[in-house]
Amino acid sequence: MGYWRGIIECYREFLPVDEKTPIITLYEGNTPLVHAQNLAREIGFRGEIFLKYEGLNPTGSFKDRGMTVAISKAVEDGKKAVICASTGNTSASAAAYAAKAGLKAFVLLPKGAVALGKLSQAVIYGARVIAVQGNFDDALYMVRKIGEILPVEIVNSVNPYRIEGQKTGAFEVCDALGDAPDYHFIPVGNAGNITAYWKGYREYYQVGKIRRLPKMMGWQAEGSAPIVKGYPIKNPQTIATAIKIGNPYSWQPALQAVHQSGGLIDAVSDEEILQAYKLIASKEGIFCEPASAASVAGLIKLTRENFFKGGEVVVCTLTGNGLKDPDTAMKVCEQPITLPPDLDKVLELIEQ
Ligand code: F0G
Repeated sequence: MGYWRGIIECYREFLPVDEKTPIITLYEGNTPLVHAQNLAREIGFRGEIFLKYEGLNPTGSFKDRGMTVAISKAVEDGKKAVICASTGNTSASAAAYAAKAGLKAFVLLPKGAVALGKLSQAVIYGARVIAVQGNFDDALYMVRKIGEILPVEIVNSVNPYRIEGQKTGAFEVCDALGDAPDYHFIPVGNAGNITAYWKGYREYYQVGKIRRLPKMMGWQAEGSAPIVKGYPIKNPQTIATAIKIGNPYSWQPALQAVHQSGGLIDAVSDEEILQAYKLIASKEGIFCEPASAASVAGLIKLTRENFFKGGEVVVCTLTGNGLKDPDTAMKVCEQPITLPPDLDKVLELIEQ
């Protein structure tokens, strides 16, 4: 193989590309699968936990896997502009890949509900950013309408190429473990990623690369849990802004993933999300964003409820990088202590 050239080159035979497809890549994928022994010990989980750290993708989230395929296909199809609605990560990724491809990018964001790091990414990569005085669902509704009126490519996960690219997350997990895990825990927002992972696992199973399928375990935030509740939420609320979505596009495929795999979809509170967010950082040295921690929060919840027998292999996808949202970290952690440049005072504090 030589060096890593992105998910399309690596998994070409599983993806809808051929020799005519121009490959637009930022060398996404190949992210670490971290063996989280400290976390397992801390939460009393008597099996093995692996964290798929998607925050190490080029724009800091799993969206890059889908975006390399969506943007490559948009270029192949002669598109000149792309558009998306986003809680932040999709827009960051779309803007970066559009920049690389020389396409225009338009992004519609819910005003005041996107972490600053993500907003700064969309801006610096050169996207046209529109802050909508509404929520993600309002923005996605408009994007889908605009896609019907103008010749722009929608690069939300309504675009099937996004799902195709994102399924490579499952391939990498299997390549690293030698088989599928027993359980795959994943945060759920617009529900594209759980759909994509399940597709990836099934495809690897069909070609005999793995001998079993995992149970898919999806996690929504309590104030933003339409799939769990069974009806759309008009005004979703959660600190995990990335998954603050009241009417997910891939609702049905997500339910199918859960039912076919024998998994479940459930909700965790903001408090549980923040506890997991802090534990992942303080026990494993991994800074993920709050929405990402919903997967681990779900694992903690089920561990407490004695859901597991012991000996299970569990993978949690950590979908995005914590540096995108430093404000939340600063809000929920101990604040720095200010002291004068006085050695005795500093020593006194350290020795406490
Ligand atoms: N985690 C993070 C960090 C996300 O940004 C998202 C979705 C999810 C989880 C949920 O994934 O939507 O496939 O179920 N972010 C989208 C965005 C909505 O616009 O960036 P999903």
